[in-house]
Amino acid sequence: METSTQTATKTDTVQSASTRTAPQAAPQAMPQTAPQAAKRIAFITGASSGIGKEFAIQIDRMQVVDELWLCARNADALEALAAKLDTPVRVVCADLTDRDDIEAIREKLVSLNPQVTYLVNAAGFGKFGDWQSISSNDVDAMIDLNCKALVDVTQMCLPFMGRGGHIIEVASAAAFAPLPHLNVYAASKAFVLHYSRGLRFELRGRGIALTALCPTWVKTNFEQVARQSGGAGDVGHLLGEQSVESVVRAALFGNKMHAAVVCASPQSFLLRLVGKVVPNCITMAGWDILRHI
Ligand SMILES: NC(=O)c1ccc[n+]([C@@H]2O[C@H](COP(=O)([O-])OP(=O)(O)OC[C@H]3O[C@@H](n4cnc5c(N)ncnc54)[C@H](OP(=O)(O)O)[C@@H]3O)[C@@H](O)[C@H]2O)c1
Repeated sequence: METSTQTATKTDTVQSASTRTAPQAAPQAMPQTAPQAAKRIAFITGASSGIGKEFAIQIDRMQVVDELWLCARNADALEALAAKLDTPVRVVCADLTDRDDIEAIREKLVSLNPQVTYLVNAAGFGKFGDWQSISSNDVDAMIDLNCKALVDVTQMCLPFMGRGGHIIEVASAAAFAPLPHLNVYAASKAFVLHYSRGLRFELRGRGIALTALCPTWVKTNFEQVARQSGGAGDVGHLLGEQSVESVVRAALFGNKMHAAVVCASPQSFLLRLVGKVVPNCITMAGWDILRHI
């Protein structure tokens, strides 16, 4: 792991899209004591690729924040995305499984005191394989990123959120039932779904819309990463893969409507129902057939 160059404090930068920044008021028109309104920001993890990147693109189009904070490890990918967006971007290069990087982001939030209008936790990964074929490092990293980092980022953003705030926690349809050979990943997403639902209840009356996003397969780098394991072939074709654009569109719409869970497709909705009414042993047997296709 590259450490010193990947901390948020050392590499975060703001890129202003000069064409779209608000016109500066003449200095003499500003009362000297006028309090500066906090910047409205969208904090998006996993923004270098796939679902997180698409959230950045669609929130940019909505023009509802003053700054996009795009977080991931790959600074080049974040910079490249930033160059295409109209909203000013702060590149937050961080490994969210690294405690120091999490603390650096917390310090940045405290020092800049923004108003977090959108929080999207999309950083995450899965690995195909059974308990013997996924390395213990990958198992730890999956739990650290998918569960622990998601909670850490949510907890540190919440003090900066108020009425009208939006949170989207990216879970998965894998959250609806235990999935052998995708077991740790599915269990981590069940954690995200339960955490999100519980937190949503705790936040009731605060005017913050919190949604858990639970799609089935989506066309991103997910599959490539998932197959980098000893059990690469344990899951066959990713049936019914959806476009990232439609999933993110459904998530933003559902969140605007204050939906607790967005499935984003009929097949995910069906899996949600199956998870509620069909015994797990039957669901797992069905999955065991599906994953061989
Ligand atoms: N694609 C699917 O089929 C699918 C279905 C349901 C749910 N999901 C969920 O959707 C979310 C996004 O995945 P995706 O499909 O968009 O996959 P992806 O294209 O591989 O994106 C994963 C993102 O996570 C970031 N990331 C990985 N490790 C990180 C770390 N240690 N610290 C900070 N960021 C890290 C990656 O950026 P860097 O590598 O630059 O750090 C990347 O931006 C995940 O939570 C995934 O579980 C995906």
